[in-house]
Amino acid sequence: MSTGVIEKLKWRYATKKFDATRKLSEAQIGILTEAFNLTATSYGLQPLRMLVISNNNLQEKLLPLSMHQKQVQEASHVLVICIEDALDSAFIKNYFSKVEKDRGTPRHILTPFEEFLVNDFKKKSAEDIEQWMAKQAYLALGNLLTVCALEGIDACPMEGFDPEGYDELLGLKEKNLKSVLVLPVGYRSEEDPFAEMKKVRRGVEEVIITY
Ligand SMILES: Cc1cc2nc3c(=O)[nH]c(=O)nc-3n(C[C@H](O)[C@H](O)[C@H](O)COP(=O)(O)O)c2cc1C
Repeated sequence: MSTGVIEKLKWRYATKKFDATRKLSEAQIGILTEAFNLTATSYGLQPLRMLVISNNNLQEKLLPLSMHQKQVQEASHVLVICIEDALDSAFIKNYFSKVEKDRGTPRHILTPFEEFLVNDFKKKSAEDIEQWMAKQAYLALGNLLTVCALEGIDACPMEGFDPEGYDELLGLKEKNLKSVLVLPVGYRSEEDPFAEMKKVRRGVEEVIITY
């Protein structure tokens, strides 16, 4: 069994060495930023923002904050998926105002749901809300990885970095953001031995349970 999509998913891998001489085009970055914005999130609240870094000096500074993983230095662009510092009632109300404006949904339909969400989030601890937002960040990462594969863009999903160090270097506190995930993107180097390695997976027959 093989479809075009599966072939592309097999083509992708967590790139360890990027070709530092090759840059993605603005159009390619535009596809990734659109895909990020189109990611499905719980309730549609999108408690996320993404940094697009394409600056050699800055990328060099990210290296010691990324367990010296060279991908951040050699990739064409480094995407940093961030969550909001906090998600308060104003944020939720702002979302509903946007639904009202963009869809023309009447207030009497929106208000009960808005009130439910505001109360629901008031009951949650700051840690629980942060965890919930981080889950949305991982959804965006998954979406981006698939889109990268479909578009022939190489990428390396990364948790191996110092989020507080990134926040400090990139001035994220002032933007009310916290970094959660890093995604260097670009073109694989011909010298990356990982590109040709066989995929290690548990196997469909093992991970799928059919009822
Ligand atoms: C959330 C997440 C975090 C990861 N963090 C790192 C990382 O910091 N550095 C790295 O080289 N690979 C990282 N990886 C890549 C995984 O090791 C890799 O995706 C996995 O071994 C499967 O291999 P494949 O993606 O090449 O098929 C991460 C992957 C995910 C999904």
